[in-house]
Amino acid sequence: MNNLENVMKLDREYLFQNYGNRLPVEFVRGEDSFLFDSAGKKYIDFLSGISVVNLGYSNKHYTNTLHKQIDQIMHTSNWFFNSNQVQAAKQISDHSFKGRTLFVNSGTEANEAAIKLARKYGQSIDEDCYTILTFSSSFHGRTFGAMSATGNEKIRTGFGPVVPGFEYVPFNDKEAFEEAVKRGKVCAVMVEMIQGEGGIKVAGKDFIQHVYKIAKDNGILFIADEIQTGIGRTGKLFAFEHYDIIPDIITLAKGLANGLPVGAMHAKEELLNHLGAGTHGTTFGGNQLATAAVCAVFDIITEPSFLEHIHDMSKVVFDRLENIKKGVPLIKEIRGKGLHIGVELESDGMPFVKKALDAGLVINCTAQNVLRIMPPLIIDENTLIQGLDIFEKIVKQG
Ligand SMILES: Cc1ncc(COP(=O)(O)O)c(C=O)c1O
Repeated sequence: MNNLENVMKLDREYLFQNYGNRLPVEFVRGEDSFLFDSAGKKYIDFLSGISVVNLGYSNKHYTNTLHKQIDQIMHTSNWFFNSNQVQAAKQISDHSFKGRTLFVNSGTEANEAAIKLARKYGQSIDEDCYTILTFSSSFHGRTFGAMSATGNEKIRTGFGPVVPGFEYVPFNDKEAFEEAVKRGKVCAVMVEMIQGEGGIKVAGKDFIQHVYKIAKDNGILFIADEIQTGIGRTGKLFAFEHYDIIPDIITLAKGLANGLPVGAMHAKEELLNHLGAGTHGTTFGGNQLATAAVCAVFDIITEPSFLEHIHDMSKVVFDRLENIKKGVPLIKEIRGKGLHIGVELESDGMPFVKKALDAGLVINCTAQNVLRIMPPLIIDENTLIQGLDIFEKIVKQG
């Protein structure tokens, strides 16, 4: 039995099989935008660990920062001050909007914190003001609050009763949103500017601006779930910037620390008192190592050329995909912004993910038939083109 077969056997024997059939590969090393499996085969990464490893696998500033921090101290407790934590919060505030940050350990926890804050805010107005509107085919996480917020019914099935007080409104439907607000008792709306797990569905600008205006007019908090879209993925540091609005709350994770499990909920200053002493917290949240990673990420993503590069690479991908689409009827639509891109197929996407993997390209499939292209944001043009060559070949083969 080779190494991989042994890992697969132990996986089946000792782990919950909640991830279904994992793809038959173990990546043991990364370099720039490449991954290497346990047999030494090289792959181009078009997934970034699902929009996490945005800086690629060998950013020296990032790894040096972490090595140094590990040698110094990794964790104390949130009972004590932590200069990395305040610096990381300042970075988020300086580059999104002036506000307060609470660090957690994942995207789902960031959304839990936002949900708790929204409920506290609502109940400061009226004890029945607790409804949170979210959207059809949205994904906000797997814990009870975040799962209950998730519009995709499949995620909630079998776990009932879910947390009451969430309503799912058709995405990109202004009238439906207005109707839901009219029913009353709404404290917040939570939205992904681009639905990631829902199939790279982009919110229309007029839709978001309408939702924002109605929210403002009715004292409803606007929560932008930027867990998948944030940290430069869409070509701006945060996707809300495409829409000329400033949310009341944003939630972050994934690329926030380039692979360390860190999440954050960032909210406008005026919401500070709704999460006062004793209302929320977590042991690991924002520890020295986690927030050293966040600071290192911000050092890099705020370099002037960082977003420019994403913009240039995005154009390379979209131009090429549009070209490929002309000769491949299997491709229904190409969607996305920046390097957050989905290729909707007329058929199931999973066979193409497997073919790509065999050919040395890592992609994944979301919402059944949408191939997701999310390379590290630092990917160079040559590598991008090599990956797109493989992509073209496998979709052309059908
Ligand atoms: C938009 C969005 N929100 C929340 C989550 C949950 O984040 P996590 O898996 O870190 O808990 C995800 C994960 O894919 C996501 O894409």
